[in-house]
Amino acid sequence: MTQKIRKAVLPVAGLGTRFLPATKAVPKEMLTIVDRPIIQYVVEEARAAGIEHIVFVTGRNKHVIADHFDRAYELEDTLKSRNKTEALQLLEKLRPAAGSTSFTRQQDPLGLGHAIWCARDIIGPEPFAILLPDVIIKSETSCLKQMVDVYSENGGNVIAVEEVPEDQTHQYGIVELSDKLSDRASKIAGMVEKPAPGTAPSNLMITGRYILQPEIFSLLSRQEKGAGGEIQLTDSMLALMETQSFTSLKFEGRSYDCGSKAGFLSANIAYALEQPDLAAELVPFLHDMINKREAAE
Ligand code: UTP
Repeated sequence: MTQKIRKAVLPVAGLGTRFLPATKAVPKEMLTIVDRPIIQYVVEEARAAGIEHIVFVTGRNKHVIADHFDRAYELEDTLKSRNKTEALQLLEKLRPAAGSTSFTRQQDPLGLGHAIWCARDIIGPEPFAILLPDVIIKSETSCLKQMVDVYSENGGNVIAVEEVPEDQTHQYGIVELSDKLSDRASKIAGMVEKPAPGTAPSNLMITGRYILQPEIFSLLSRQEKGAGGEIQLTDSMLALMETQSFTSLKFEGRSYDCGSKAGFLSANIAYALEQPDLAAELVPFLHDMINKREAAE
C-alpha cells in the first residue's frame, strides 16, 4: 500500500530571461495560453490528480501569482452587480480552496534543486509531486494522474518521459531504461542531463513531472552545485537512485515547453484550435499565412 500523493511543489522562482522584456514585471507563469495563465493549466492538472495542497516556490516579483489564486473582491462584486454569472462561476471554480496553497520564497535563484529544497518543511516526510509550471501537458487524462496510477502500483519515484528526435537529445535530461513494467512504464537504470550529441542512452526526455520520495530533501540539502553552477534536481535524483527505485512513464499526451517562445506559441495555437469559435477564424487565417509564406519562398 503506497502513501497517497497529497502535495505538489510548483517552482516559480526562475527569472524567465528568455521572455524578456515580457517578463520584466509579469512572471513567465502568468503569460496566457488563450485565456488563462500558463500556471492555471498546471494547477488544474495537479488537482485532477487528487492533489490537495500546492506549494508555490516563488521569488521577487511573483506576488501576482498569489493574487491570481486568491479571491478578487472588487472584481467579483462588480461581476455580481452586472449579472455576469458565468464569469463569476468560472472564477469560483478555478480558485483553490482556502488553506490549500502555500507560498515560500526561494531567496536566490540557485537552481531547480534548490527551489524544491525550499519546500521541504511544508512537504514534510511524505512522497510528493513536482510540476514544472512552464511545461503544459495536453492529454485526455491529467499527466500527473497517470503518474499517480503508476506510483500506486509500483511505489518509489516516478518520472514522466516523452520521446524527442535523436538529434535533440543533447538539449534535455535523458533517461536510460531497464525492465519494462507495462506498455508505458519501465524501470529507470540511469539519467543524464544534456548528454553530448550521439551519447544519449535513449530518446526519452524528462518532461517536468515527478513523484519523489521525501528522502530527496536530505540529498538536496548538501547544496552541491552541478551543471551551469546550479543546484540541480537531477543530481540528487541520481543519488537517490542508489537506494530507491525510479519508474519512467511514457504518458499519453504531449508537452508544450512554454518557457520557450516556439513552445508557448504552439500551445496557444493547439488550445485555441480546440475552441470551435476560435478555430473557425484561426484555421483560414493560418492557411492563408502559410500559403503566403510558401509563395514568398
Ligand atoms: P528554467 O531553466 O526554465 O529557468 O527553469 P527560468 O529562469 O524560469 O527561465 P529562463 O531560462 O531564464 O528563460 C525551470 C523551472 O525551474 C524553476 C523555474 O521557475 C521553472 O519553473 N526555477 C529555476 C526556480 O524556481 N528556481 C531556480 O533557481 C531555477
